[in-house]
Amino acid sequence: MNIKNRTVFFIVALIAVIGFFVWRFIRPMNIYVVSEAFERPIDTSIIPAPLRTLRATECAACHSDFYDEWRTTIHSQAWTDPYFQADWKFEDKQQTCKNCHIPLDRQQEYKVLGFRDEEKWDPILAPNPAFDPKLQHEGVTCAVCHLREGKIIGVYGNTQAPHPVKKIDDPNQICVRCHVVEGNRWDTFFRFPPCGTVAEIKATRNTRASKQGTGLLSDTPGNNAGTAAIEKPQSGAPSMNKAPTGASGEITVPDTKRLGCVQCHMPLIKRPLVAGGKPRLARRHLWRGGHDPEMVKRGLEVNFKAAPDDSSDKRSFILTITNVGAAHYLPTGTPDRHLTVTLRLLGKGGNILKEETHTLKRTIMWRPFIVDLWDTRLPRWQPRNYRLDISDVQNTAAVEAVVRYYLVAEERLKRIGYKSEEPLAYDVFQKRITLKAN
Ligand code: HEC
Ligand code: HEC
Ligand code: HEC
Ligand code: HEC
Ligand code: HEC
Repeated sequence: MNIKNRTVFFIVALIAVIGFFVWRFIRPMNIYVVSEAFERPIDTSIIPAPLRTLRATECAACHSDFYDEWRTTIHSQAWTDPYFQADWKFEDKQQTCKNCHIPLDRQQEYKVLGFRDEEKWDPILAPNPAFDPKLQHEGVTCAVCHLREGKIIGVYGNTQAPHPVKKIDDPNQICVRCHVVEGNRWDTFFRFPPCGTVAEIKATRNTRASKQGTGLLSDTPGNNAGTAAIEKPQSGAPSMNKAPTGASGEITVPDTKRLGCVQCHMPLIKRPLVAGGKPRLARRHLWRGGHDPEMVKRGLEVNFKAAPDDSSDKRSFILTITNVGAAHYLPTGTPDRHLTVTLRLLGKGGNILKEETHTLKRTIMWRPFIVDLWDTRLPRWQPRNYRLDISDVQNTAAVEAVVRYYLVAEERLKRIGYKSEEPLAYDVFQKRITLKAN
């Protein structure tokens, strides 16, 4: 190559590299892989008699307790939730979002005939004559979880139900369709894909040796479902993750029985399934999570007290926070969820002398490539300590610790231009210790 050719070669190569990165910065993000499990809506061509529609109100005619609970849940708002709507519009109203937030074909205005692209983000659509706008507003409604191939799926299979029933072995299979999303793609390097709740459970499971049942997960309605065993904490230092991982680090889900989603999120209750029916072991339909402070508090154990080496001239305190109640990380779900731990030194007049805040969240680089940078959330049973040293004991009157849970990150709200009517953060722990005057 002579000098001129070489210069041309370098300029072309440089333009190609710049072009590549520009594309990486402006292309649609498409953060997860559209898997076969949810690439299309759920087929409802057969509505089993005696049902006429698939609306929750129709199930409510017989199963009113279930309906009353479901109505209070985030599942029933998976479409109407204003935050979801704002986010969905910001993400160019992608069709694929509907396959989890309103997955029944009758909940969607369009039918999916096929896809224009290999990644299945660009579906070929046609108007859907069976579209039911009322059903759409029910989000993750009864039939989403319970209707498959014209039958109602349930764990009993031997009831006198007026509708056809199909028995399923493991109720956790129902959750997995939507609560696991993979990121296995050449340009994504997630250890836990978004909504990676399942992968998180798998990753921490192998760090536990003993697997005795505690009763919490070994309950047995419908004479099955009881195979899930809760893993007890192992004494000694927590080990690193040893779970089998896929090419980009994500973990796949062959064994749903031990996930325990239903056992923790749908506690057992003895009640009839229909008014006047025989009382049975059934499950609450409440699915509490980040929107419920009591649920989050139940997942956490927090202690704030004097450190073992605390002394009168150099006082030290330690906050210890442990995820004791969630099999996945805490927080889990969308990467925006996070916790903060704030430690403060207070002066004689209650003024803040010093304050430090630690954030427990996952930090992801989205562009040019999707990379899990670091993750400071709490894996199960691995205590985390935060230390507060006081050098100026004379002027310090008290120490204070506050742990706060956030449903969303402030930056994200600004970016999508969303203002919430509801509070999006709340305290889950607060303690003030007054120092005795020397
Ligand atoms: C006309 C009344 C009626 C309607 C409407 C109805 N069900 Fe049922 N369902 C029953 C009865 C009765 C049983 C059996 C109760 C028993 O034996 O304890 C039952 C049982 C069930 C079971 C348990 C099945 C098993 O074997 O585990 C599920 C799940 C269920 N219904 C879901 C639904 C859903 C979802 C809808 C709405 C799409 C619905 N039902 C509508 C009356 C009804
Ligand atoms: C059809 C998809 C789908 C299925 C199946 C499903 N979920 Fe969900 N789930 C969602 C969506 C979507 C949301 C979030 C809705 C929102 O906030 O807009 C959600 C939210 C939740 C939450 C969070 C509540 C909160 O306070 O933020 C919990 C807990 C949960 N689901 C548990 C379960 C369990 C347990 C199962 C299995 C029995 C299950 N889900 C099955 C789609 C699904
Ligand atoms: C997010 C998924 C989901 C939704 C939505 C849902 N259910 Fe269920 N439902 C389940 C699971 C999982 C079970 C099985 C629990 C078990 O192991 O006993 C179940 C069980 C039942 C049962 C059998 C009794 C029991 O508790 O086992 C009835 C009846 C029932 N559901 C009715 C309804 C009705 C009515 C609605 C709507 C108002 C509804 N479900 C919405 C997941 C769901
Ligand atoms: C040992 C009990 C336990 C098990 C098992 C468990 N969870 Fe949870 N889960 C919790 C607790 C406690 C919280 C509240 C704290 C938090 O947000 O992490 C929670 C929160 C959640 C949330 C709320 C996240 C949000 O964004 O608000 C979702 C979604 C969820 N769990 C899904 C699941 C799914 C899906 C499974 C099964 C794959 C599962 N959980 C298994 C205890 C459990
Ligand atoms: C594979 C199923 C699935 C798909 C596809 C999906 N979601 Fe979700 N989404 C969920 C589940 C499950 C949750 C609740 C668990 C959690 O907190 O992460 C959720 C939660 C959310 C939330 C949080 C709501 C809240 O309560 O704070 C938003 C916003 C959201 N999804 C937007 C979208 C958008 C926009 C798309 C399309 C680009 C999309 N989702 C596609 C399953 C899905």
